[in-house]
Amino acid sequence: MTSDLARRAREVLDRNRRGTWTCPSGQFYPHQWLWDSCFVAIGLARSDPQRAAGELRALFRGQWGNGMLPHMIFAEGRRDLGTKRIWQSRKRPAAPREVETSCITQPPLAAVAAWYVAEALPSPDRRAFLTELFPKLLDYHHWLYRERDPRQRGLVTLIHPWECGLDTTPPWMRELRRMRAPWWMRVALRLRLVRLVRFFRTDTKFAPAAERASAADGLRMLVLARHVKRHGFDLARMPREGSVLIEDLAFNALLAVANRSLEEIARELDQDIEPELDRRFRSTKVALEELWDEPTGQYYSRNAVTDELLDIPTVATFLPLWAGTASPPRVTRLVRRLQEPSGFWPRFPVPSVPTDARQFDDDRYWKGPTWVNVNWAISEGLRRAGATDLADELRLRTLDLVDRAGTAEYFSALDGRGFGARDFSWTAALTLDLLEAPAR
Ligand code: GLC
Repeated sequence: MTSDLARRAREVLDRNRRGTWTCPSGQFYPHQWLWDSCFVAIGLARSDPQRAAGELRALFRGQWGNGMLPHMIFAEGRRDLGTKRIWQSRKRPAAPREVETSCITQPPLAAVAAWYVAEALPSPDRRAFLTELFPKLLDYHHWLYRERDPRQRGLVTLIHPWECGLDTTPPWMRELRRMRAPWWMRVALRLRLVRLVRFFRTDTKFAPAAERASAADGLRMLVLARHVKRHGFDLARMPREGSVLIEDLAFNALLAVANRSLEEIARELDQDIEPELDRRFRSTKVALEELWDEPTGQYYSRNAVTDELLDIPTVATFLPLWAGTASPPRVTRLVRRLQEPSGFWPRFPVPSVPTDARQFDDDRYWKGPTWVNVNWAISEGLRRAGATDLADELRLRTLDLVDRAGTAEYFSALDGRGFGARDFSWTAALTLDLLEAPAR
């Protein structure tokens, strides 16, 4: 299986290559996405470090003057029905002039990917690459703390579910349903006119609607995007009422990992992280543990306005393993929870929502299916926590899944069927990494 799987994965990445960067899927996602490119770079690091370095450099074409890395950089000349119109980045003074981007961010894996790629580069290139990226990465982390953690709580607040990467994950969708919808949306929902949204979507042209975000969730996300735009995509200007402001678990766990990578990069370059930023890094590690709920033995995202934990179980609960912040008893509980066959360990683990949860939906996007990027991150976390055997089992099961169903976007946790895009870049890239993994 190994060499054939690697060949198929490489073919997908070659087909999706657009010059210096790689789109997530030729059909579904023709632009450049932030965390997708990070996964592509990580996956290619060991077999083609120069391309991986180029992939990350291309991400910084989109960096804003204030340091933000946008979640999308639009491909030139592609007709794009909806989303470019939402953002209109060129109207924003801090946005870059040369490319059009979205105006929100996505999980901050850039420093993690930069470090993995640097480790694979030959030494003169490695130093040059890190010297070039380090100040830009620092600017991004400064932006995250300055603009998104103004109260200095240690956790970054997200203003839209597209920022969390697990777009339609149930806790976010529940918070979205609580948002007061405009009158026309209430009418549309009541009259089931939401089906109309399908005419404006491109994803449901290529995949059955049942596998994608529901039309109602999709409409609410568009309404929220208009709301954040009205407030300049600026957390400081967003009203507490009527906004959806979440201290997202997955995002903040990955931020803690990325902070650690920045520290590694600084060490490699003999530079210091300034004390104020270093203090913020430490505050994130402490605050992450505030998201733990002792009775259920899981981590949750938190509503940044009400301070409530959003207590719907999701796969994000395992990401703090990678952050390395959990105490040994918490690690033990998480590892045990992960292996429950009726929850997070069905035939094709790890489902995005445990199979015994009311919200589990076998084929719908982030509401049940297994995703390769999350499996990859959990297996990094397990390795860090010392659970190497389980990490390896997850690695092999993930490879088996891709071998059976192909480089799909996501998979049924129950029977392993592939869903969504069939030529999905991060599935292909991380397959390459998983094939080599124990060597790291
Ligand atoms: C979907 C995913 C998001 C990803 C994007 C491009 O929207 O939810 O995480 O970045 O597709 O692949």
